[in-house]
Amino acid sequence: MFSRQLILALSSVLALLPQSLSASLPFGHYGPEGTVLFLNGFHFVSGHSDWEISANHYCVIIRDDMLQCAVYNTATSPAHLAGIEYIITTDAFETLDYEERQLWHSHVYEITSGFLIEPGLPSSVDHTIMKDVLVDTYGKTFHTWRYDQQNSTYPIGIPELVMGYTGDDQITPDFVTKRDDMFGVNTTEIKESRSDIPPPPIVEGADSWKYGYVLTLGLINKTADTNFPPNDKAQVVLHY
Ligand SMILES: *[C@@H]1O[C@H](CO)[C@@H](O)[C@H](O)[C@H]1NC(C)=O
Ligand SMILES: *[C@@H]1O[C@H](CO)[C@@H](O)[C@H](O)[C@H]1NC(C)=O
Ligand SMILES: *[C@@H]1O[C@H](CO)[C@@H](O)[C@H](O)[C@H]1NC(C)=O
Repeated sequence: MFSRQLILALSSVLALLPQSLSASLPFGHYGPEGTVLFLNGFHFVSGHSDWEISANHYCVIIRDDMLQCAVYNTATSPAHLAGIEYIITTDAFETLDYEERQLWHSHVYEITSGFLIEPGLPSSVDHTIMKDVLVDTYGKTFHTWRYDQQNSTYPIGIPELVMGYTGDDQITPDFVTKRDDMFGVNTTEIKESRSDIPPPPIVEGADSWKYGYVLTLGLINKTADTNFPPNDKAQVVLHY
């Protein structure tokens, strides 16, 4: 569980930060009201280890064991809403059945590697949040503006499940360097500053691609009648 005190402290200290902070960023601020955390990290599309995404997360607290984040692309202006991420504690994760867990990714490596950052926060605050709040959490993320449609005018297609990195040599180093340049941070230094954070064990089921199978979404198109009462005569259907 996130400690209540920590959450209260987080809320009051950080509530105003993202707006003022992101005013100076090239993609502006589009987060929801009540955002208490602004995170940048990396995702890859499940089944496409080379589809790398730099994702800005604007997170609100849902309960003391759950955050929810709106995820935006960094490479678009105005920023495209790329997807959503739900973040839960280990205790909550352990209550999920095994198949559900396979949709989630661990956050341990994202934190110990320095990949997950809180741009603009003092490093001591960052360290506390990473160590006490985020390191033993799990995330479930669907991207609604597909990777292969990132540059399209409209969000085409169906959502994609994305995952997080779990080890060295998975992401293209240059991709991290570009992120560092954008935010004026040094991932190597952040990693070193977190070397005292003990990595908790990862609960079975998370990061399911490590087990040798890959989960992707598909659209099911059944032939069947939808049985509403026949009172929709007023509807106009435009044929192109
Ligand atoms: C989208 O466009 C940007 C800028 O031209 C480019 O760097 C990026 O690779 C493109 N992304 C995709 C998925 O095609
Ligand atoms: C980042 O920090 C490391 C360790 O201090 C240093 O070796 C490296 O040159 C730095 N990178 C940049 C781009 O400043
Ligand atoms: C679903 O199947 C029907 C019948 O084959 C087809 O006319 C329709 O375009 C399909 N819709 C989608 C989204 O694939």
